[in-house]
Amino acid sequence: MITDEHIESYINSLAPDIPKELDNLEQWALDNKVPIIRRSMQSLLSFLIKTHKPKNILEIGTAIGFSALFMEHCSQEDCRITTIEKVEMRLVNARKNLAGHSRISLCEGDAEDILNKFSNDHTKRYDFIFLDAAKGQYLKYLEYIRKILIKGGMLVTDNVLLEGSIAESKFSIERRNRTIHMRMREYLNELTHCEDFDTVILPVGDGVAVSVYNKIEDTEHHFVTN
Ligand SMILES: C[S@@+](CC[C@H](N)C(=O)[O-])C[C@H]1O[C@@H](n2cnc3c(N)ncnc32)[C@H](O)[C@@H]1O
Repeated sequence: MITDEHIESYINSLAPDIPKELDNLEQWALDNKVPIIRRSMQSLLSFLIKTHKPKNILEIGTAIGFSALFMEHCSQEDCRITTIEKVEMRLVNARKNLAGHSRISLCEGDAEDILNKFSNDHTKRYDFIFLDAAKGQYLKYLEYIRKILIKGGMLVTDNVLLEGSIAESKFSIERRNRTIHMRMREYLNELTHCEDFDTVILPVGDGVAVSVYNKIEDTEHHFVTN
């Protein structure tokens, strides 16, 4: 948690109630130590989905399906949600929890393989992407995201502040966490300095980057010809 626990609890107390099914699933995840979006992130995600009104959401990192079900709850009836997960232990629960939810499709496999396939299939285009998977891979995923996110689409990346350690010098980070620290810094640097994304980083939950894609179409490149 980056913000003061006291303040976070107060803000959480203002969050609207979630349906019983989601409440039970959230409790199950907490009891079984499955990392799912926190209350503060739920409020932000709900706000972004209600204002952006996406029709095609892609989630990278399903876990047991909590955030996919939460996004189904916040989105309009004509919005479809595709969610990617590769770990069998999570998939067992995700399949069960998402069964009967016709607006949600579970894609089983490694995110990079699936993103690669989607980027070569013009029917797989999204106006909202929620990135909540292997933190060290985000920069690699961004190249595929550039192909499948439509112009004006929104990219929401969770856990970008690594419990606050992102702001520390790499020398004060435990050796085993240095690669992830370096890769997340590279990812945030790219998102905030590139031409094609406008990004704001918010200290919500474990830190979230909210980006809007100003896709540069091929026809927008101006080549100098002799
Ligand atoms: C933080 S959890 C997702 C939580 C979920 N979005 C929620 O809030 O309910 C991250 C998930 O990403 C999955 N994951 C990590 N690396 C992956 C990869 N390369 N391909 C697919 N899924 C991956 C993990 O197995 C884990 O279940």
